[in-house]
Parts: sequence; C-alpha cells; structure tokens
Amino acid sequence: MEDRIEIYQKLNSESDIIKSLISAVDQDSYGDFSISSAPGRVNLIGEHTDYNEGFVLPCAINLRTFCVARKRKDKNIRIVSLNLNKVHIQDIDDIKPSYNWWSYVLGCAYVLGIRQGFNIAIYGTVPLGGGLSSSASLEVSAMYAISNLFGLRLDRREIAFLSRRVENEFVGVPCGIMDQLCSSLGVKQNALFIDCRTYEVQNVKFPEDWKIVVCDSGVKHELGSSEYAKRQDDCKKVVEIAKRFDQRIKSLRDISTQTIEKIKYNLDPVLYRRAKFIVEENQRVIEAVEAISKKDKGKVFELFSKSHIGLSKEYEVSCEELDILFDIAKSFEGIVGTRMTGGGFGGNTVNIVESGREMEFIDFISNRYMSVTGRKPISRLVQIDSGVQEHKI
Ligand code: GLA
Repeated sequence: MEDRIEIYQKLNSESDIIKSLISAVDQDSYGDFSISSAPGRVNLIGEHTDYNEGFVLPCAINLRTFCVARKRKDKNIRIVSLNLNKVHIQDIDDIKPSYNWWSYVLGCAYVLGIRQGFNIAIYGTVPLGGGLSSSASLEVSAMYAISNLFGLRLDRREIAFLSRRVENEFVGVPCGIMDQLCSSLGVKQNALFIDCRTYEVQNVKFPEDWKIVVCDSGVKHELGSSEYAKRQDDCKKVVEIAKRFDQRIKSLRDISTQTIEKIKYNLDPVLYRRAKFIVEENQRVIEAVEAISKKDKGKVFELFSKSHIGLSKEYEVSCEELDILFDIAKSFEGIVGTRMTGGGFGGNTVNIVESGREMEFIDFISNRYMSVTGRKPISRLVQIDSGVQEHKI
C-alpha cells in the first residue's frame, strides 16, 4: 500500500519541517524568526468562474507550504528551498519581475516595498503543478512571513490580494483570486463560498461523513498556461458582444442562460460553448452550496458530473487522463461527486466519497486507472484545513 498512496491525516512532521527551516535561515541573520504556513486548496466546484467575477467553492487542505524568515543587516535576499535543495541570493535593489522558483518569494518583497535584506527558507507538501495551488500557498505563506518580519501585520484579505499581484504582475501568470483567498481565509472542515465580484466569503460546513480524495493523473500538459489566457480572452470577447444588447453587462457573471441563448447567433460556436459553460457553472456553485449543506448526494453527483463534462466538452480544459479518472470514479458505488479540479490540462480530480469507503475507492481507482493508462495515480486523502497561520517556537 505504501508505494501506491499518500495519506495526509495530519502534518505530523510539522515541528521537524520548522526546525530544518530555522537552521536554513540562521546564517548571517539576526533577531526573531517569522514563521508561517499556508495551505493548498482543492476546488469543489466553480471552475474558471473567478476571473469572470463569478462564484467558487474551494476548501483549504492539509498540504501546506512553510516559511521561516529572519532579517539581515545587508540588502541581500537569500532564499532556500528545501524541496529543491537550492539557494538563490539577490540584491534587493536588483529585483525585477521574473518567472522562476524563487520569483514567488521575491515578488512578495517587491509588492510589499521591502528595502532591507532577509533570509527565508521554504518547504511545502503541496504537489507542484497539480492544480492544488502550490504557487498560491507559497505566495501567501511567504507574504505572511515577510510582512510579519517587518512588522506590517496585514490582514488576511490584504495578504490574498497582494499575493495575487505577485502572481499577475511579478511572475506573469494571469490567475484569478480564488486560490489566494482560499489559502488565506480557509477554515477547518468548511468550504468557502466566494463571490469573486464582491469578495464576500461564506463558510459552508462540509459533512463529517464525507471524505475528500484527490487523484493525481500524473500528467501536466504544457499548453495549460497559454490556453488559460486564451479562455480569459474568449470570455472578454463574449462580454463585448453581450454589451451591445445590454450596456449593464460587465462580465459573464451578469449574463443569464436566457441572454446566452438570445445572443447565440451573434457568437461563434466556440465562444458560445465557453460562455454557456461559465454561466451554467455559476448556477451550479449556488446549487452545490445548498446540496452540500443538505447532504443531498444525488444532487452533488449531478452537479459535479455536469461541471466535469462542461469543462471537458464546452470549456475544453480537461484532458484524456482526467476524463478517464472521472469515468472510473463515477462508477464507484460510494462516490458522492467527482470532477477535475483547478485550471485543468492535467493535475487532479476531486472526489467526495462516503466515509468508510475511502480506502476501497483508492484501490478501485488505482487499479482501473493503471490498467487503462499504464500509470499509477497518486491518491491523497485530504482534510479541510485552516488558512495561513503564524507558528511560534
Ligand atoms: C487556476 C487559477 C484560479 C482559477 C482556476 C480555475 O487555479 O489560479 O484563479 O481560475 O485555475 O478555476
């Protein structure tokens, strides 16, 4: 079993991680240590809706990125990654936007306008590039550690917005706000129902007798980032066309299913499919909040399935491996809901499974996925965790 699954019940090596990070920042630094951790997330439903000012329903998970920071007397920023076993040193006066492993940390110093050098060491348990927000968990954790180190004491929302700026303006990835808000504001055993126009966040209690298993397809298709930007453009194009019919339309959030049908003949078929998916997905999030609160398994199954099929056929951000995982999971008797999660083109599916059947599910999906694709999926049983936090020694 050991070689097939990873089960994160609890980060029981947390104190070891922090000890290792402390010894990695010790050199040439002085004063107090600023210690933080921030979670990755799994999005239950509401995919690609955040940059359309729509609704999302993610939850923070117990896979986290830890940071320890300490001041230096000079103007160097020294970043150590214990995952990569690499060090990067940069003069604070030479920071400019870049796309590299250290950029997520340098970007924090950049948006915060820090003028003094510091050491920072990072270590994360969120799988990289798997659609579980490893980048947001790093940005949010580093933002928290660095801002606390310099006595800025920002609130969690500010941490989220600044972290998104790092990603958009410094790293150059045009993501929405879902991941950073979830990593900042996550609440144990709750999903977050986020309105990405007003940024209002409501906690939605997740049933104790449902478990979440994320299944990693083991693939990450390169076209992910370019296609992500293309989808945003497609959505903007539809909004421009819809505005001719109604000036009040500012984003796809303002478009109803009736409006989409009304303007259908002014849209090229691809744009129509994109817009239809977003409009329906927003509605599904609202219905999912109710279905989860009422523990209505049938409804959750229906909404998750429609979401996956829409992402695959209409929004076209799935891939063969994710579709295979979806098809296998759907046929498991104790499944409550299954769909791809995150930006797509590889990465993970999210599976809600009846409590007590999660190990059977993991066996079921592993064996079948292996026999169809020849690959082992990594299944992770995760728990819903809290957002960014400070750690004391
Ligand atoms: C990525 C982005 C998010 C969101 C999802 C898709 O995770 O970072 O902002 O757009 O894709 O729902």
